[in-house]
Amino acid sequence: MHRLLERQIRRFLGEPATLPPELAAFIAAVDEAYNSADADRLLIERSLDLMSKELTDTNAGLRNELAERQRADMALQKKQEEQRLLIGKLEAAHNQLLQSEKMASIGQLAAGVAHEINNPIGYVYSNLGTLEKYVQDTFGMIDLYEQAEGAIADPEVRSRLQEAKKKLDIAFLKTDLRALMDESKDGITRVKTIVQNLKDFSHADTSDEWNFADLRSGLDSTLSIVNNEIKYKADVVKQYGEIPEIECLASQLNQVFMNLLVNAAHAIKERGTITIRTGREGDEVWVDIADTGDGIAPEHMQKIFDPFFTTKPIGKGTGLGLSLSYGIVEKHHGRIEVQSEVGKGTTFRVWLPMKQS
Ligand SMILES: Nc1ncnc2c1ncn2[C@@H]1O[C@H](COP(=O)(O)OP(=O)(O)OP(=O)(O)O)[C@@H](O)[C@H]1O
Ligand SMILES: [Mg+2]
Repeated sequence: MHRLLERQIRRFLGEPATLPPELAAFIAAVDEAYNSADADRLLIERSLDLMSKELTDTNAGLRNELAERQRADMALQKKQEEQRLLIGKLEAAHNQLLQSEKMASIGQLAAGVAHEINNPIGYVYSNLGTLEKYVQDTFGMIDLYEQAEGAIADPEVRSRLQEAKKKLDIAFLKTDLRALMDESKDGITRVKTIVQNLKDFSHADTSDEWNFADLRSGLDSTLSIVNNEIKYKADVVKQYGEIPEIECLASQLNQVFMNLLVNAAHAIKERGTITIRTGREGDEVWVDIADTGDGIAPEHMQKIFDPFFTTKPIGKGTGLGLSLSYGIVEKHHGRIEVQSEVGKGTTFRVWLPMKQS
């Protein structure tokens, strides 16, 4: 810098051989000022460089730290999700256990009762048959005596006989005895069917075994068991379509039908109809349980299969019926569909594959 200034000054002074000492000193001072400014600038530039490099380094560090933290966060979230799923699974397993224990004890009770009743019912039934025959024989004998009446010589004996006949009203006795016998036989036959249904229902002999079964007979035996709960509320209409036997755990499916039928009856306030339909589509069969009850509120629709969800008063419902049914149908690789309209009624459709592959 000072050379430029010196040249200009020399040119200005007409190129003298030497510069006056004050001017030379001035040029040196200017030069020194410039040099020190340059050094300052360099220093500032260098420290700025250093600072910016430091900042870049810190930034990169921060970025790494952030990424690390995000990774840790994600791992934690994943772990939490896994735990949530595990808890859900545990809860489901626990509920399933509770319910199957309940069902198993009902089944055991049913099988026990059926077994106990079976014996006395057996001999009452067979005794009734014998009794009927004896009564017939006795009446035959009385007929013969009646025919022989005319041949009795003693008028006193004859009038006593006639009096006794009038008092007994033999004619009425004959017809009424027959009616009583028929009614008793009818009753006993019904009890026999109920016992058989109880046995079928609990499937004490073949519990938890995959077999081919006709769902319609399962529906019938289940219906006879829950009939008591239903009959005061609803007329049951059966519209069974042709279905093949399907591979299933029959006693468990009966539990599904039982729960759907009881739910249907509970949904009916005054009096209504429960319609049971069966049908087949492709490789699947379906069972409909339709009621003309209250229907399901839309906001409840998502929850009805949740364990412990119930809208029934305490003591009336545990809220496990549908969740158990769902589990059983799932085990069969089937599905349950629901259609409901508040105030009109509800239809549950159970789809089941014909074969378990
Ligand atoms: N056919 C139906 N009509 C109207 N609501 C129904 C019907 N079926 C089920 N629900 C509703 O779904 C709820 C859950 O049914 P779920 O069978 O699981 O339990 P619950 O019947 O209340 O009790 P539980 O069956 O254990 O005795 C019922 O409380 C009811 O609100
Ligand atoms: Mg229920």
